[in-house]
Amino acid sequence: MDAAHPQGFTAQTTQTTRQQLRQQARLKRQALTPQQQEQASKAVLSRFCQLREVRQSQHVALYLNNDGELDTEPLIEWLWHQNKNVYLPVLHPFSKGHLLFLHYRPETKMHCNRYGIAEPVLDVRLVKPVHELDLICTPLVAFDEQGQRLGMGGGYYDRTLSQWHHTGTGPRPLGLAHDCQQVRHLPSEAWDVPLPAIITPSAHHRWSSS
Ligand SMILES: Nc1ncnc2c1ncn2[C@@H]1O[C@H](COP(=O)(O)OP(=O)(O)O)[C@@H](O)[C@H]1O
Ligand SMILES: [Mg+2]
Repeated sequence: MDAAHPQGFTAQTTQTTRQQLRQQARLKRQALTPQQQEQASKAVLSRFCQLREVRQSQHVALYLNNDGELDTEPLIEWLWHQNKNVYLPVLHPFSKGHLLFLHYRPETKMHCNRYGIAEPVLDVRLVKPVHELDLICTPLVAFDEQGQRLGMGGGYYDRTLSQWHHTGTGPRPLGLAHDCQQVRHLPSEAWDVPLPAIITPSAHHRWSSS
């Protein structure tokens, strides 16, 4: 038995299962109709704007939706309306696998990164150090009943949240997802950072006491 996978899974089968779960969850969210997407986004916004952790945050990282993800535009508009600062992830130009967070305004110049996702054009004056953010809204492909999170496979948010996970310092994450992205159990790896809270159109899942 592989010591790192005591339930009998080998590293190889774990990776295959994770890849299959990723593919299934992506297909489900991509199949949502424009009407379902609109309703989902409205329902998440009404939860989001009442959350204490959101109301208490002044510097909020979000992301632009892609691949059937929940539409984040209404959340961004609401945050701007509340005079809160919004930041978007940008692929780090030198440090592979890492993200930078840039201040995002309606007039921010955007371009497409190598994944075809729109991101602000890198300008060092707009970079916000992660420890100065209050809240990081994370995208996810699938989540399970324990708050384990599966991303697109780059490990970007695992790296971003590693310090918070190990020391409890820095911005808290908040996952955003459609209900159909929930699975019973995700095989996790040592580096995966489980989320303390996730909001979906029909639920506010919470796993930590805080
Ligand atoms: N904190 C970290 N430090 C170094 N490498 C990491 C870290 N977190 C994740 N990785 C690497 O990123 C890769 C993708 O991680 P994975 O969890 O499969 O992706 P995702 O979280 O996007 O689904 C893995 O090869 C993993 O080793
Ligand atoms: Mg991961």
